[in-house]
Amino acid sequence: FRRASLCLCSSLLQNCALNIWIWRDCVTGLSREERAYQYVLVHATPGDPDSILEAFDVWCSKVEYISNIGPKKGKILDRLLMEQSPLTVLELGAHCGYSTVRIARALPLGARLYSVEMDQRNAAIAEKIIRLAGFDDDTVELIVNPSDEVIPRLRADYGLERLDFVFMDHWKKSYCPDLQLLEGSGLLGKGSMIVADNVLFPGAPKFLRHIRKSGLYEWKVHRATLEYSKGIRDGMAELVYQGIK
Ligand SMILES: C[S@@+](CC[C@H](N)C(=O)[O-])C[C@H]1O[C@@H](n2cnc3c(N)ncnc32)[C@H](O)[C@@H]1O
Repeated sequence: FRRASLCLCSSLLQNCALNIWIWRDCVTGLSREERAYQYVLVHATPGDPDSILEAFDVWCSKVEYISNIGPKKGKILDRLLMEQSPLTVLELGAHCGYSTVRIARALPLGARLYSVEMDQRNAAIAEKIIRLAGFDDDTVELIVNPSDEVIPRLRADYGLERLDFVFMDHWKKSYCPDLQLLEGSGLLGKGSMIVADNVLFPGAPKFLRHIRKSGLYEWKVHRATLEYSKGIRDGMAELVYQGIK
């Protein structure tokens, strides 16, 4: 009996650890992202991107944190997109599709957004959110693969010739190598804009060192606070590619 109870305890502990690791609800079995999706599905209006973003913002500020760019830094992103009016956009890190919808709603007619997400579960939610917002495959294409595999194939597989705007919001350690891949791809032209979130928190020091040293960019950091928080200072880097001088 003792051995059986020990086994039961250890398997319960393992389950609990696994659930905490992927933030699964022990009652519903839903992940954090799925719970947010359920809330959005009930509270947002299909075909209305604004209402989808609002529902996410309510959930993430009042119920459970998800690392969406959020409304404050989102407004900076909106403004930069409006000013640039980019036709070809690349997003690295879609998560639940919050920033994807935010970008897509700011694009001019005929523009195309390629959004890269390597986690299949997150990508499945992002896909549902993007389509719920009313964006079809011609406007937003979700690519489910790691960025370092996708960037070198953007020309061959997706027929891209130039990227007007890149939004980086994936793992911070990938910012620098992926920026170098983009530079090597020849897809950045004079005036291409790269916006990178969280360069101060959690921080991307190698990325900042590279842009400072390379001399390839005019750049600045927009100071802000971490999404859905008041006290944690963060920043979003805005880079404009100048080309090789
Ligand atoms: C901070 S979340 C993105 C949040 C999203 N941009 C938003 O504001 O709504 C980071 C996401 O990047 C994805 N990711 C991390 N590294 C990646 C990589 N190298 N390639 C593609 N996706 C990546 C993670 O799976 C995660 O879903």
